[in-house]
Amino acid sequence: MFAMARQAQAAAYAPHSRFRVGAVVRAVSGRLYAGANVENAAYPVGTCAEAGAIAAMVLGGDRAITEVLVVGDGEPLCTPCGACRQRLREFAPDMAAIHIAGPQGIRRSFTLGELLPHSFGPDNLA
Ligand code: THU
Repeated sequence: MFAMARQAQAAAYAPHSRFRVGAVVRAVSGRLYAGANVENAAYPVGTCAEAGAIAAMVLGGDRAITEVLVVGDGEPLCTPCGACRQRLREFAPDMAAIHIAGPQGIRRSFTLGELLPHSFGPDNLA
């Protein structure tokens, strides 16, 4: 997952922030899907790496995430933004592992429930 995320990070389109991010989600099927951030001159229109990976997963026919790895540079942990935590929540359970990596490898792992406690999800609408 790390190697795939690093490859995605290298392909990111981040001319505005110059902050490249790669993300990989592992589906229940075992398949891996990668995404990178794609920025836009109209800043809010840009998309995060996690959103790209989720879109690739849905296109690939998968609907359930077991594990996620996000890689970004810098000293602070590159944890998913608030909106992406909610995007992941749509397809991942509270216990799904979210690994946060830097250029050398995984630095810290959380569960989705730790990053987005007491969340609102699809089960609320069941
Ligand atoms: N970004 C991601 O793609 N994922 C994250 O987990 C954190 C932030 C992107 C969004 C934007 O293109 C750049 O990083 C700086 O915020």
